[in-house]
Amino acid sequence: MALSMRSTVYILNKVLVVGVLLSYVASVDKSNFKTCDQSGFCKRQRAYKPDQSPYVALLDSVQIEPTKMKVQLLNTQNQVRLLLEVIGLERNMARVKINELNPIKPRYEIPVGDVLIGDPKQDKIEISHKDGGSISLAFQSNKIVLQSKPFRIDFVASEHPVVSLNANGLLKFEHLRLKTVTQEEKKEGDEKQEGENQEGQGAEERPEGQEQAAEEEKEPEAKEPEEPDMWEESFKGHSDSKPNGPTSVGIDISFPGFEQVYGIPEHADSLALRSTKDMDPYRLYNLDVFEYELDSPAALYGAVPVMLAHNEKQTVGVFWQNPSEAWIDISHNLADKSVLSKVVDFVKGGDQIPQVDTHWFFESGIVDIFIMLGPGPADVFKQYAALTGTTPLPPMFALAYHQSRWNYNDEEDVSNVDANFDKHDIPYDVIWLDIEHTDGKRYFTWDKSKFPNPEEMVRNISAKGRKMVTIVDPHIKKDDHYKIYKECRDLGHFIKNKDGNDYDGWCWPGSSSWPDFTKPAIRQYWASKFAVEEYEGSTLDLHTWNDMNEPSVFNGPEITMHKDAKHDGGWEHRDVHNIYGMFVHQATVEGMVARTGGLLRPFVLSRAFFAGSQRWGAVWTGDNTGEWGHLKVSMPMILSLSITGITFSGADVGGFFKNPDSELLTRWYQAAAYQPFFRAHAHLDTRRREPWLLPEENMKVIRQAIRERYALLPYWYTLFYKAEKDGGPVMRPLWVEFPSEKGLFKEEETFMIGDALMVRPVTAAGTQGVNVFFPGGTEQYWYDTDTTERVFGGAAHYVKTPLDKIPTFQRGGSIIPKKERIRRASNLGRHDPYTLVVALDRKGSARGDLYIDDYHTFHYRKGDFIYREFIFKDKVLENKNGNPGSTFTTPSWLEKVIIMGLSTSPSAVTISSPKSASTSLGFTYDSVKMILTIRKPAVNIAEDWTISIQ
Ligand code: GLC
Repeated sequence: MALSMRSTVYILNKVLVVGVLLSYVASVDKSNFKTCDQSGFCKRQRAYKPDQSPYVALLDSVQIEPTKMKVQLLNTQNQVRLLLEVIGLERNMARVKINELNPIKPRYEIPVGDVLIGDPKQDKIEISHKDGGSISLAFQSNKIVLQSKPFRIDFVASEHPVVSLNANGLLKFEHLRLKTVTQEEKKEGDEKQEGENQEGQGAEERPEGQEQAAEEEKEPEAKEPEEPDMWEESFKGHSDSKPNGPTSVGIDISFPGFEQVYGIPEHADSLALRSTKDMDPYRLYNLDVFEYELDSPAALYGAVPVMLAHNEKQTVGVFWQNPSEAWIDISHNLADKSVLSKVVDFVKGGDQIPQVDTHWFFESGIVDIFIMLGPGPADVFKQYAALTGTTPLPPMFALAYHQSRWNYNDEEDVSNVDANFDKHDIPYDVIWLDIEHTDGKRYFTWDKSKFPNPEEMVRNISAKGRKMVTIVDPHIKKDDHYKIYKECRDLGHFIKNKDGNDYDGWCWPGSSSWPDFTKPAIRQYWASKFAVEEYEGSTLDLHTWNDMNEPSVFNGPEITMHKDAKHDGGWEHRDVHNIYGMFVHQATVEGMVARTGGLLRPFVLSRAFFAGSQRWGAVWTGDNTGEWGHLKVSMPMILSLSITGITFSGADVGGFFKNPDSELLTRWYQAAAYQPFFRAHAHLDTRRREPWLLPEENMKVIRQAIRERYALLPYWYTLFYKAEKDGGPVMRPLWVEFPSEKGLFKEEETFMIGDALMVRPVTAAGTQGVNVFFPGGTEQYWYDTDTTERVFGGAAHYVKTPLDKIPTFQRGGSIIPKKERIRRASNLGRHDPYTLVVALDRKGSARGDLYIDDYHTFHYRKGDFIYREFIFKDKVLENKNGNPGSTFTTPSWLEKVIIMGLSTSPSAVTISSPKSASTSLGFTYDSVKMILTIRKPAVNIAEDWTISIQ
């Protein structure tokens, strides 16, 4: 984000915005953002600790449908009734919805298709037991127990109670209400209304057809106690009007039997979530935070309300579909066995049962919780993918290395940077242009003095097999001569303020308005702007970066939009805040797909995100700092995103703010070469730091790290192909691969790429060596990818880390495909030969796979791809076809096979295929290292063959 000295140049150049920006600059600090105590609903919900929950489930209201149970909940304090729905879903999932039975107007729910990819497939539920106080439902092999008084629901999977709702009685549902006015207020209001009417202003807008309902509504809330901040609240001079009073919804979710919970990104914090007893709750509110703090539950740019709980036996997850601001408290406790034993019998023994208690509260919307019952990590990933979708396979260039900075100044600068990569033999695929490339921050335009021939510039880049990305932000400069502004204004496309006028705020271009991306027609309008004919200077090799889409509003409350701003359908910004950025991302992607008639896969990076953003592409962790701590935190941050569906993410290499020293920058490249999205980026005010500007030694090490990324691209690509199919993360916490090893549950420095590669990047200055714990028990072999040295699992080993060392280990039992010839850009190596690296397990076996397609079209969706499975067993390596129907071919051949861990020297190595008789192959064997290298098998990588070792 946003401002500090970073804007100095900008400010000096643009006299117009000096005043506003300077006042903003002066106030960018932590105090710009609310603590829980400064947020009305957070304070009310957090303070809520009823001795006994006032909610009872009225069991005589139960309605049972084949896949659903409906029950009314009564708040015995204010007599307001809620409707609870418990829905059985396929694949071990259930959904719990709680809404007002008779709201004075609808409460916001995200339309199906926007986050949920469709209506989740429902499955049968049956009442297995009912008595005066409880109902048990059976679905699949699970059980749901609802208790009436106090109301709670327990989910039992494989005989274990794993998730409980309202076990701590914290359900607090603030129903919509009409303000009860005192006579005096009424008089004042009448006078004001009269004045407004005379000025031609309308009354408070509400979704169509709701006025009457409101009129008829009795006001049960009249007797309720008023608490501060219910009808209006202000923060740093911004006031927030609340036409329907307090609207928050909160409930506790407990995970009996678990000690660790994960997820709910985005926070600059640990992977295993911490207890919030002595700090603020974790906050989910998409914000543009200047120089964010580490080890903090504070909100950042994106929000995914998904939490996973994991123990040695089970993994479960919850997803609360609600895009309003949320806070989540966490505490680590012991389960109340007397209560749980009512749910399942076995809970009686003497052992204590751990339990993580969490308390969630959202500012508006409804309770809509999906319970994913696993039982394993991969099952939860599939369950969440079935709800919200997966990341489409990115084009290959997107997985390669990206070079960005704010800004590459002009065409000459671009061409020099490009040439320097070649000169120093460093591969790269994409060069990025930040906001300064535009004509005065009017997106879709070019600053013609610096970029007079944009199309030619892009063509020069793409002639080398590379791509370009330009930034397109959602704030639209208020300028009657700017086409996009004029069109949006005239078509009524902008978000409105509470008074019904186009919302107006400050961002990079100065005074701006924001298209209402929540409306499908406006997304279509935006999408159409990416057509090559519309976006002057663009070509099909130009891709996009969406930034500031939280949205960032420099002079707004907490640097974002006023919550009482109005969206399509009369919804308040408060209702949709966390999903706005995702809609920007979606509209952009849809435009990029449409511009090629659905032929080419686009690449779009977004800063803001929500649950489901994975379907639109990549995100990054925003404006980090060039400090060791920020390098270190990038690991848990990306891991948290990965396990909540956002597979394709990364952090600015080197850190956005400040000037990292050579050692830090070098270590950062090494780490990021093993993170999904790999882009160097830096603030306008930082010193240039392209790799060749560093001392020779560092430059060489960075080059090596980038080259290792390129060599492994076939592996990354295969992993992303599989992630699209099953929703599993590409970068994974160790516990995902070794779920029963309790010692790994908090590990976040060491992680896996796929199931075959373990990485432990160096994240501290002057590190001479690191202790790496090798999971999998003593039966598990690991191989150092540099030295091929074999290490046994079940223990920690010290690994020396001179500057050129990235501790990376291949898991015994795996086969990794590589391309060892490194080109200037990934696309140039498309037909290059492959190397297979076989790491044997204790039994002398290994397996792996390889996905190949054309790198850039959607044809793979029609089956035009190669999928091979490699199996090594009894000294025979077999290449099997995993996609038999396909006619897709590749000229790529097999250049080399390296087999690590082969204990006996072969007498001969032969290859045979159904097409040709067996022939001998040349090989070398290193008996000390136990490495067999088979040279030039020279067979096509996509044919059936077997290599036998005698
Ligand atoms: C925001 C982005 C940053 C970008 C800058 C200028 O701060 O997070 O990456 O360089 O805006 O567009």
